[in-house]
Amino acid sequence: MNYQVISVLVLIALLPYKIIANSHIKYEKTNYYLDDIQKFKKIIHVCPEESSRQYVAPLVNKNGEEFSACEYQYFCHKNEPCVKIHTVNNINYFDYITYGEYLTNINDKSENMIFISCSEKSFKNGMCNTDICEKDSDCFSNNCVKGVCMVNDSNPSYICRTTKENSELKVKCLLAYEEKCNNDNECGDIASCSKDKICVIHNEKDENGNDFMKYIISLIAIIYVIIILIAIYYVRKNNHNEKESIKTI
Ligand SMILES: *[C@@H]1O[C@H](CO)[C@@H](O)[C@H](O)[C@H]1NC(C)=O
Repeated sequence: MNYQVISVLVLIALLPYKIIANSHIKYEKTNYYLDDIQKFKKIIHVCPEESSRQYVAPLVNKNGEEFSACEYQYFCHKNEPCVKIHTVNNINYFDYITYGEYLTNINDKSENMIFISCSEKSFKNGMCNTDICEKDSDCFSNNCVKGVCMVNDSNPSYICRTTKENSELKVKCLLAYEEKCNNDNECGDIASCSKDKICVIHNEKDENGNDFMKYIISLIAIIYVIIILIAIYYVRKNNHNEKESIKTI
């Protein structure tokens, strides 16, 4: 047993952290505007380059109906080119609260941006937070307030995703999470308009999901501890062996 094996063990131990931290999600600046995206092809065998994944993905609409289609995940402002997110997964962590993390520009790893912003109400209620922003341009909303990305009511963000409505596949660009709304139809993705008049993904639906996430996180924590104990054991054994061999010399 040598240090190579130990470093492999450490790398394995770090893997779940990387997956949970989501730091691998990339975004890409495009030349598409909101209206272009709504015309994208919804279902073909190999999805077009504009999609967020090469193959048809299993998706869910607002009513919980499951379907398969090419997934598009874009963030836009009115009259500005949109940004594509390179994942079919939801980047809004709705297991406990709405949370905005830095994603990385696929063409320039030094460029990072937070796409989820908070409404004042949710932030005060502890229902929304983001990674720490330093300047306005760290936030897709272009509004960094005391280290938190906040929505800008006069320049809302829109999220475009594939959905199924009356058995018809559509790509819809509607208000992003935490933006001000009057009714459910204005909110994008699977969000609805809360009683505070904010687009949110309701937490009640995901209570089972919470338990599952807690279970997975505890499991990962246990695996972590075991791997670290094994690593310590071998480091000690190594040291011991070295001392033994010195003695025999
Ligand atoms: C909100 O957006 C408007 C319009 O783009 C801009 O003029 C204003 O400075 C923004 N406000 C904040 C607080 O970022």
